[in-house]
Amino acid sequence: MFDLVLRRATLPDGRKGVDIAIKDGRIAAVAPELPGEAGSEVDATGRLVTPPFVDAHFHMDSTLSYGLPRVNQSGTLLEGIALWGELKPQLVQEAIVERALAYCDWAVARGLLAIRSHVDVCDPRLLAVEALLEVRKRVAPYLDLQLVAFPQDGVLRSPGTEERLRRALDLGVDVVGGIPHFERTMADGAASVRLLCEIAAERGLLVDMHCDESDDPLSRHVETLAYEAQRLGMQGRVTGSHLTSMHSMDNYYVSKLIPLMAEANLGVIANPLINITLQGRHDSYPKRRGMTRVPELMAAGLTVAFGHDCVMDPWYPLGSGDMLEVAHMGLHVGQMTGQAGMAACFDAVTVNPAKLLHLEGYGLEPGCNADLVVLQAGSPVEAIRTRAARLLVLRRGRVISRCAPVQAELDLPGRPASVSFTTPVA
Ligand code: FE2
Repeated sequence: MFDLVLRRATLPDGRKGVDIAIKDGRIAAVAPELPGEAGSEVDATGRLVTPPFVDAHFHMDSTLSYGLPRVNQSGTLLEGIALWGELKPQLVQEAIVERALAYCDWAVARGLLAIRSHVDVCDPRLLAVEALLEVRKRVAPYLDLQLVAFPQDGVLRSPGTEERLRRALDLGVDVVGGIPHFERTMADGAASVRLLCEIAAERGLLVDMHCDESDDPLSRHVETLAYEAQRLGMQGRVTGSHLTSMHSMDNYYVSKLIPLMAEANLGVIANPLINITLQGRHDSYPKRRGMTRVPELMAAGLTVAFGHDCVMDPWYPLGSGDMLEVAHMGLHVGQMTGQAGMAACFDAVTVNPAKLLHLEGYGLEPGCNADLVVLQAGSPVEAIRTRAARLLVLRRGRVISRCAPVQAELDLPGRPASVSFTTPVA
């Protein structure tokens, strides 16, 4: 006997009328009209049921700190970094933990059950590291939090940071980060990539660097990152986040760069909400969009994910943990309005980041974790179009969040009594 069966669901690949049976926290069977008894059943007729959203790039140590100690006046990345520098000495561990837990509540309600968060390791006290390790432990029953040791002020530029980064990894931080474009010279940037990849290789860890987050077409640290991934035999274990300089690079150079990235099986993370906000700030008109070359990288076979990056912090005043909002912006900035492009944007907030995070048991096949989201939408495209309500969010087969369908009551002559923005179920 199954614990729970979701009946007549629509799956992200377009299959309709599929039953999903759950037993002992795992998916036991996926097929139309499954026979057998169930402890309970959910009617998911015409509803999209998907594995949870995954955010491949976030900053949980700064989230929900908007306005502390002041707001970012220029809106630039550099003022954001300076502002974070002002806030850091005032941070207390309990407040970081409380803000992060509050954000994780939002995430769960949005069906976002796995987050890779960078955590700043430049503070000698490693306050944020200790806070987020505590948060990782507390949310583990309902959310997978993966932490990246992020040297915000530059591993070479900021004295003592290499030692602090190693200490953070010793404490249990999962992934090695970096910020080569923020080092003092191009040569230092390249040296930081080499150093950090070697640290990861020694320890058998994944790498995810903020890389070339600028409009400078000559910021080419991604080339070094791809080269080091190959040299150290870390293909498929290294990710470049942002890569915004690729937007402005010379096309001939990119025609050589993308195959190098593909050979290294480099992961790519674009952060559409933040890239469109922070890049192009030195431009008058026309203003560059600044997002990396998402459709071209996908076409070359690279795994591309979209991250949220920031929610209400020194860099970004908005956001609510909604990865459909992220996909919506990525779709627009990347002009991915064809059917295949829109579907790829849904993958960029679900299966693609799950792959980059090396999440185990993610998916809709029998044996996978019964972590599922039932959406008020009939397809991935409709989910993006309407930023669909997450009707049910399940973790290991247990409902951990529920939400009523969105519907407006109308009072119009000769028109229906209500409207919900979804297309009628076929
Ligand atoms: Fe970031």
